[in-house]
This record gives sequence, structure tokens and C-alpha cells, in this order.
Amino acid sequence: MTKISPEQLRSHRWFGQLTMRTYNHRSRMAQLGFERSEYAGKPVIAVLNTWSDINPCHSHFKARVEEVKRGVLQAGGFALEMPAMSIAEPFQKPSPLLYRNLLAMETEELLRSHPVDGVVLMGGCDKTTPGLIMGATSMGLPMIFMPAGPMLRGSFQGQTLGSGSDMFKHWAEVRAGTLAIEQWEGVLSGIARSPGHCMTMGTASTMTSAAEALGLTLPGAASIPAPDSRHAQMAVATGRCIVEMVWSDLRPAQLLTPDAFDSAVTTVVALGGSTNALVHLIAMARRAGVMLDLDRFDAIARDTPLIANLRPAGQYLMEDFYYAGGLPALLNRLGGRLRLDALTANGKTLGENIAGAQVFNDDVILPLEKALASGGSLAVLRGNLAPNGAVIKPAAAEARLHRHTGAAVVFEDYADLQARIDDPALEVDADSVLVLKNAGPLGGPGMPEWGQLPIPKKLLAQGVRDMVRVSDCRMSGTSFGACVLHVAPEAFVGGPLALVQTGDRIELDVAARRLHLQVSDEELARRRAAWQPPPPRYRRGYGALFAERVTQADAGCDFDFLEGTQPTAEPDIY
Ligand code: FES
Repeated sequence: MTKISPEQLRSHRWFGQLTMRTYNHRSRMAQLGFERSEYAGKPVIAVLNTWSDINPCHSHFKARVEEVKRGVLQAGGFALEMPAMSIAEPFQKPSPLLYRNLLAMETEELLRSHPVDGVVLMGGCDKTTPGLIMGATSMGLPMIFMPAGPMLRGSFQGQTLGSGSDMFKHWAEVRAGTLAIEQWEGVLSGIARSPGHCMTMGTASTMTSAAEALGLTLPGAASIPAPDSRHAQMAVATGRCIVEMVWSDLRPAQLLTPDAFDSAVTTVVALGGSTNALVHLIAMARRAGVMLDLDRFDAIARDTPLIANLRPAGQYLMEDFYYAGGLPALLNRLGGRLRLDALTANGKTLGENIAGAQVFNDDVILPLEKALASGGSLAVLRGNLAPNGAVIKPAAAEARLHRHTGAAVVFEDYADLQARIDDPALEVDADSVLVLKNAGPLGGPGMPEWGQLPIPKKLLAQGVRDMVRVSDCRMSGTSFGACVLHVAPEAFVGGPLALVQTGDRIELDVAARRLHLQVSDEELARRRAAWQPPPPRYRRGYGALFAERVTQADAGCDFDFLEGTQPTAEPDIY
């Protein structure tokens, strides 16, 4: 690859010219304690750190950022840590997705406004991965992603516990009266016992693995548990790599091609990954000018076997996955199903990176012929209830519900759900279809992860553990059940979901990719004429901007003015 010269570095405009303003920049660098020889003529690397006191998934980032910087220095670069907002999944309300686009905007503008030549993105907790990548893609500087890494397996009284999945499972038993509250407290204390992101194949592991399949990390980076010493070594290597990417002028546009996104989707499906990936990968692709859509997801999903035996669809956790060979081994097993010629961050192709990667445990990374599902671990549904699409994860649902018709039990919003779901008088049985409205991009707002609607207590007591549920929100990647999600358009903007009434029959047929409301067109037209839009959730601030410009789930929930590759002017230097 040809190399750029020091004079071609973007930071040269700040530090290499002789003007009054650049003297000021240099004097302020001196104020920070840096001599000119430390940074001038060297790649200036921003290390965007999403550490926060309230983000347990990134609690090790204070140490990791020093390791990334060490790698940058080793390779002859100059590293500057820049904090970016930490989206802490367990705490942020009404929904962390509301803030993904804000992190993306912050990322893009931090990079644009500062003397930066390349960037290491440090994230992992669900929305941080797509948020950082979306912003850095739009900025277009050389970038590499350093995943937070999964936490260690959860453990309590000899049981292995998985993030999210085991919380949902055990909480259902508490509600059913089959698990004592003291036991529940024990589960809580053992389910998250180290730094790192959720260690099931939830949204975090799904998106960091997708980033690796896209070529945005060093090979193997996504699978290493956060506390493992090899995670620290990966941070150093990532710091070295970005310096080389800057000299080679290796930019996201060269990595984020349609082929790379096809590989990422294939990877997500083979992992049994989170339904959230559909929203995030579509948004990420559109930032790169790639028109990924739900139909492409579904087409790839139909033919891709689910070979990661990881919860919630399977049995094991990310720590086991790493010991079994990690993502490179799984990708090697997928072989020609991937676009192996795609270029990656280290300048090699995906095929070169995974050549020779071995599986060390066939029970964790399954042979193709022993896949948990031969295809369709994610499926896109359409019909008069979801003209623009909806999503289900059949691999995490009871198979008997893949084809089901039942009477709707409708909740107008989340507060209504909370108020009535356990009401003994609620008319519901195991064949009912639970429907939640007004929980989508605008209605939630931010599509909160309410899509795994709780099974009514009286049905839990009867032994029911799965039902068909339909909503316009998302569900955690660690969740499970026959949950139809992301119904588009959402109820809040008058999508057909808004017109469903209790007692209407809803038909789900995963094999036929069908979601149908068995109500006549004439009756639906009558209901539509009577429908009144709800008042806006926000009249000022970021929420108002979000409501005005966010796209629907099928388009990735990005802001419409941030999509695409239209160039943005570089700041002038005065
Ligand atoms: Fe951070 Fe799950 S809470 S990844």
C-alpha cells in the first residue's frame, strides 16, 4: 500500500503550518506538557473512550485506554484520549436507543473539530458499538474498533448464569411462585461478576462480532473476555494498528462495502444474534452508502445455519465461545458463505485473517451439519399488520408457536401493560396474542426493550412459558420467546398496529414470513378514520429533534439528515 507523508496528515493543518493560530495550538499543546517533537509529523490518534462511573460494562476502560495509547506510541503515533458519552444499557431511560444517534453525532463532530488523523473507538455495551461506528463512518477517517469484551460466566450455587436470559427466566419463576426471593437475590449477586459486556449472545456480543466481521477490529478481538490478559494485549495491538492504518490511508469507505455487510449479516445469523442487529446494521450500512434492508437480512438468514450454541438460543456463554476458538473459528467454519475478499483493518482480507482458525470444542461452535437451525434464526415478517416489516427470532421461541393464530389482548402502552398484565380478571389464555402499542421509535420513545411482554401471572401458574407477542418495540438480545418485534410503521404514527383491538385474530406464520390481522379492509378503514394521533412526547430539546427526524425501525432509526455519504465541509483553519 502507498504511504502518505507527514505533510499529508490531517493534523498537519493544526500543527505543521506557521500562522498565529497554529502557534496558539502549539502553545496549548505545550501547556498540556507535550513537546512539539512528541506529536508534530506523527499520526494523531483520538482514543474515544466511552468509560463512565455508571457503565459496568466499560469499567475496565480506564486501564484499557492506557494500553491502547501504549500501542499507538509503540507504532510512532501520538494518542489523545477523548471521552464520548457512555450509553449504559442497564440504567438509561426511557431507552438507550434514544441516545445512539446522539453518540454518533458526538463521535463525528469530536473527530471533525479536532486535529485528528485516525481513531480508536472503545465501546461494547449495546448501543455504543453502532453509535461510535456510525459517527466515525460519517467522518471517514481511518478507524478501528476496540470491543469491551464479554464479562465472565455468571455463577450461583453451581449454576451457570447468563446475562439477561437467566434474569428473565428466574424472574418468571419468582412471579410464578416457584423461586424464593432469597434465591433471586443470589442470582442477582452472581449474574454479573466481572467487568465486560453481557456474555450471552445479546446485542453487545452480536454487534461487536458484527464489527469484527465488517473488518473494523483486529481478528479475534470481539470474543476475548474483558478480564483476560489477552484483552489487554489486544488493546495494545489495536493501538499499533491504527497508526499503520493512518499511514496507509485505510479509510472506512474501503472496508464498509456491500460485501462486508453481507458477511456481517451472515455472522449475526450464524451466531443466533440479537434482533437489535437489524436496526443497527441497517443504520450503519446507510452511513456507508450501502442500502442494506430487511429483505437482504431475510434472504441471508434463510440460508445461514445457526452454529453458535450460545444463549439465549443455545446453551453456552461467550467465555466458552472464546475457549472454543472464538469468532475467527466460527467464521472459518462458515467459509465460503462469507465474502472472504473483503479488506479489513489490518490490511489483510477477511479470508486471510481467518485462515487456519480452529474450533476447539464442537459442542460450542457446531459443525455445519449439526446446526441448531439450518436457516432462519432471524426472520422478517410482513402482512397487513406490518406492511414495512417486523422481526422475530424463531430460534429463541417455542417451535409450536412458529405457526399460530390467536385472539389479541391489547395493551395501549407500557403503563397499561404494567397495570393489567397480572390482573386476575384479564381475559387471556395460552393461545392469546399479547399486543403492545405505542412503544416504537417515537412512541417509546426509542423502542425500549419491552418486546418480551411478561406472561400473565395466572398463565405462569398454569405452566405457560411462551406465547406469541406483538409490538413495535425491541427486545433485549438476551431475551427469548415468540416475540414479534419492530412492527413498522409503529402505532404512534398510525401504523396498522394502532388499529388492533382486543379480540381481533392475529395470524403468525414464520415459514411463510406472514403477520396478518384477520380484520376486513373496510373495518380497518373505519377504525383508521376514527384514529387520533397521540400528542408528541417532547416539545423541546434532544427529544424533540429525535421525534422530528428519526426514521422507522425498518430504516434503522437513524436521523434522516445523517444518512448517506454526502460530504461535510472540513473546518477552516484560521
Ligand atoms: Fe452493557 Fe448488556 S448491559 S452489554
